[in-house]
Amino acid sequence: MTHTPVAIIGAGPAGLTLSHLLHQHGVESVIFESRSRQDVEETVRAGVLEQGVINMMRQTGVSERMDAHADIDDAIDISINGSRTRIDLKELTGHQMAVWAQHEYLTDFIAKRLADGGTIFFETQVDDADGYDGDKVVIDYTTADGRHEQMTADYVVAADGSKSPYRGPILEQDGAVRSRHEYPYAWFGILVNGPQTQKELIYATHEEGFALISTRSKDVQRYYLQCDPNDTVDQWSDERIWEQLHKRVDGEGLTVQEGEIFDKSVLKFRSAVTDPMQRGRLFLAGDAAHTVPPTGAKGLNLAVADVSVLAPGLVRAIKRGDNDLLDNYSAIAVPRIWRAQHFSYWMSSMLHSVPEQGYFQHRRRLAELEAMISSEAGRRYQAEQYVGIDLPKFEV
Ligand code: PHB
Repeated sequence: MTHTPVAIIGAGPAGLTLSHLLHQHGVESVIFESRSRQDVEETVRAGVLEQGVINMMRQTGVSERMDAHADIDDAIDISINGSRTRIDLKELTGHQMAVWAQHEYLTDFIAKRLADGGTIFFETQVDDADGYDGDKVVIDYTTADGRHEQMTADYVVAADGSKSPYRGPILEQDGAVRSRHEYPYAWFGILVNGPQTQKELIYATHEEGFALISTRSKDVQRYYLQCDPNDTVDQWSDERIWEQLHKRVDGEGLTVQEGEIFDKSVLKFRSAVTDPMQRGRLFLAGDAAHTVPPTGAKGLNLAVADVSVLAPGLVRAIKRGDNDLLDNYSAIAVPRIWRAQHFSYWMSSMLHSVPEQGYFQHRRRLAELEAMISSEAGRRYQAEQYVGIDLPKFEV
């Protein structure tokens, strides 16, 4: 039977970044991914990288395409009924952000892993991971051509997204919790062939609801509109979309640039945190452990933060038999996750309109937003949360 030091389930941001960081320290791993490479490289998700993630990509040789093609921005705009305030992230924090879509990030890391001789099994289903309470993990899997195989591993990391079945055994432990929050709104996301409305992102609030102007390139734009969680794609005609985007964003000489809409989807808003994120030789990373709503785009960044603790923890354990960092993985990762939850919740609740909450809450919400953007301390607080705290750094 083949053996790998670390079996990783899922080739998303958490799994690929973990495999890459382990390789940087001479520890090999195998990634099992149920979807095809093409599917992983084409699925549309959010797209903001924090400065810490940009730095990690640059320092470990994965930034070439991002540096050449991503919009690296100094600021975001907050718009209230068409009146915009610039939050100068660079001036307020010294940090920038990159608008680089998650599927581009995954494309970069898949190419880098393969170029470095890494193993990614696509279209391969993990049927069972067992033995994590003992001294060796056994992975049962079905290959792309339908063969049943087994592999042993020292550790298994479930980085298989928000529906991960591996939370189950973790939540069976005494004191383990899964904490959740639902939101009364969702986002309607579109991709557009057309010119940029503005290089820097615009987070807009308006009586009719939130809107976000983001970008993918000079010719492809990403726009979002607040919608009802039960809305379906066919309720949003192109005409309705443009009417609502203009209404919610236009103003002070800026007009949302129209184009051909070639993708429409509804994004659910959810928060969830699993604590702890480990049991024996089994670890959760990224969305398998926690979910954040898309406002502020913290999901990928949090996944990278998780594995920035997990990777050195695994390296120390495998190379030196030192388990201290690995044992403390959840204790180190979970507080940062709660801070990201708070930020995403706070941004979401300040920017979305919920008429059912009544006039008092509506005016209080706008007053909070106005108090924040009209104070330098407020803008700085917002900017610090937005660019993110530095990634955890541990010697191996
Ligand atoms: C995106 O470009 O998809 C995006 C940007 C900022 C967000 C969320 C999503 O807060």
